[in-house]
Amino acid sequence: MNVKTLMAGCLFFLVSGCLFAAHTGKNHAARAAHEQFMETCSMCHGANGKGFPAIHTPNFTDPKWQTSHTDAQLEAAIAHGKLGAGRMPPFQGQLTPRQIKALVHFVIRGFAKKPK
Ligand code: HEC
Repeated sequence: MNVKTLMAGCLFFLVSGCLFAAHTGKNHAARAAHEQFMETCSMCHGANGKGFPAIHTPNFTDPKWQTSHTDAQLEAAIAHGKLGAGRMPPFQGQLTPRQIKALVHFVIRGFAKKPK
């Protein structure tokens, strides 16, 4: 085996190792966000994200609701709370900005993609 093939082989291992790590890392983040939602949010938003009319939680599975809210709005509502028809408590002290982003990305947005 010459030096070039050896180096190419090393490079291949390095790249595939990184891809694998990135992939499992993402799955882990998604799972952690779902667990977080079930623990901290589902009692008000429902495990299925559809909300409860009695306490004015929105239906996250409604495509119209999804397109009328930006990620920044949702992150701000989770961090600072929102007082509209209902009362969404602030989670800034309890969750890191990273956890909040993961909740929006993997969980809240995820409800839109599920078939009904
Ligand atoms: C005590 C009940 C309660 C809990 C717990 C709760 N929420 Fe809410 N949430 C609400 C209510 C009520 C609203 C609707 C507020 C309004 O617009 O009147 C809301 C609204 C929202 C919105 C929409 C904000 C917008 O801009 O319209 C998002 C996103 C959200 N919640 C995410 C979460 C996440 C993520 C968690 C868990 C970390 C969580 N909520 C926990 C009650 C709750």
